[in-house]
Amino acid sequence: MNNEIKKQMMAAAVVLMVACTTPKETVKEDYGNPESADAAMEVTAADIIAQGESLVKASDCKTCHHVANKIIGPSHTDVAKKYEFTTTNVAYLAGRIINGGAGVWGEIPMTAHTDLSQADAEKMARYVLSLDGEIEH
Ligand code: HEC
Repeated sequence: MNNEIKKQMMAAAVVLMVACTTPKETVKEDYGNPESADAAMEVTAADIIAQGESLVKASDCKTCHHVANKIIGPSHTDVAKKYEFTTTNVAYLAGRIINGGAGVWGEIPMTAHTDLSQADAEKMARYVLSLDGEIEH
């Protein structure tokens, strides 16, 4: 194998390593596991929920959602009660936040938020899912 190819493979490996160590990946593993050896990881999880809260507060969500009361959309606490805090549900709800639509809670549609990145929408979803106070189970 010549050196140029070796160099390219090294570069690809570094990119992969960086991609695998994004906070999203690590939080996934540690969620709901208070026994986790790595305390810093749990701070990261709480951090992400705090970031999600800021993102929700900065966005238009509050026009239709209240933490505890149904307005146009379901209260975010009711959403948290309906879905278990799993990575599958985080990804699903992030998709719902981005794409909007109706049919789960009623006929009123949620507006789409196509300007949001998947990562930010997942932070918002994590914040919403944290609202039933059962993160520590
Ligand atoms: C125009 C009003 C409106 C806005 C703005 C809005 N929502 Fe919604 N949202 C709704 C409605 C209505 C539903 C119920 C949709 C349904 O029945 O499928 C909903 C549902 C949801 C759900 C649950 C989806 C499901 O599949 O159970 C989540 C989570 C959510 N919204 C989060 C957000 C967040 C976060 C924002 C801000 C980025 C936001 N919404 C902005 C009206 C809105």
